[in-house]
Amino acid sequence: MPTSSQQGAERGRSGDGSTSRKAEHLRINIEQDVRAKGVSSGFERYRFAHCALPEIALDDVDLSVAQFGRKMRAPILISCMTGGTPEATGVNRTLARIAQEFGFAMGLGSGRVLLEQPETLESFDVRSVAPEVLLFANLGAVQLNKGYGVPQCKHLIKLVDADALVLHLNPLQEALQPEGDTDFRGLLKRIGDLSNGLGVPVLVKEVGWGLSPDVVRALFEVGVAGVDVAGAGGTSWSEVERFRTHESWRIRVASQFAAWGIPTAECVRAARAVAPEAPIIASGGIRDGLDAAKAIALGADMVGIAGPFLRAAAQGFDEVHDLAHEIVEVLRVAMFALGIRSIEELKLTDMLGPA
Ligand SMILES: Cc1cc2nc3c(=O)[nH]c(=O)nc-3n(C[C@H](O)[C@H](O)[C@H](O)COP(=O)(O)O)c2cc1C
Repeated sequence: MPTSSQQGAERGRSGDGSTSRKAEHLRINIEQDVRAKGVSSGFERYRFAHCALPEIALDDVDLSVAQFGRKMRAPILISCMTGGTPEATGVNRTLARIAQEFGFAMGLGSGRVLLEQPETLESFDVRSVAPEVLLFANLGAVQLNKGYGVPQCKHLIKLVDADALVLHLNPLQEALQPEGDTDFRGLLKRIGDLSNGLGVPVLVKEVGWGLSPDVVRALFEVGVAGVDVAGAGGTSWSEVERFRTHESWRIRVASQFAAWGIPTAECVRAARAVAPEAPIIASGGIRDGLDAAKAIALGADMVGIAGPFLRAAAQGFDEVHDLAHEIVEVLRVAMFALGIRSIEELKLTDMLGPA
């Protein structure tokens, strides 16, 4: 008897490709254990040195930052996830209302479906509820090898009223999808051309296996405005694809990548070492305010969280609100217990851990 994910995969093949894939992804991420297995984000290897005499008041702690022309009340990004399906409309609205209330940034899911099916706009339209939020549009970088370029990306930015475009690099995910786009040749130059021609900042992210320092260096050399390392230790897209397929050999292939990728903590440190001044976002397995504080102390300007926000959104607005509150409060209290007033100071704080 087929499992529900097998039935979903059948639906995916018979219906429209990218929207049904997106619906499957959402459902699997909510219902299944899609965490990476055998690899962690690496933040557990670091500790802060507690300060018993902080010489500041808790109210002095200020989490605000400015990024890409927008003020944020906390350096938290609700990472790129969804759009294009009926379920996505509610999820994006909920996440956007939270981003607006807490002063977070927000990323939308891949806009390819929006460019191909303009009638899906409602599911991407979050500006009406999040007018002040730093908003990222999103597209798979590999689409630049399939005819997408400056005009399409400009159109996408305009449709969703985004401040910047985030391109995702997901070669392993594409390779594990039966219908994946796997020609990544010549992408670096195309990313550079887009970065120099779009007129809004272009950032590049992974999706949970990490950007190595060589890739980070190459991306900044061609002109990207920022990177999100999106390292290993959180949502694993090989695990998601494992749940999407019903072919036993594909299941076995995907299983073998559950521990793949560069742990997020390592990615952030290495990225900061090769790009001392550039905007760097840390995501991938960041699960609480302490992970967020550690990511910033290791060099991130902003911290992205995806899976936990999605699962909270599936439960309701109050759950997302609670999660956002908890993350911000832990970050604030941690900074107080370190005697640190600002995110800039947190970035300069040493931790105990791997040299
Ligand atoms: C349901 C879901 C959908 C996602 N869709 C996208 C996407 O369309 N584009 C993208 O760049 N990343 C996408 N991601 C990846 C996230 O932005 C993030 O990089 C990754 O999940 C690691 O973060 P996490 O461990 O906090 O989930 C998606 C993640 C989830 C959970």
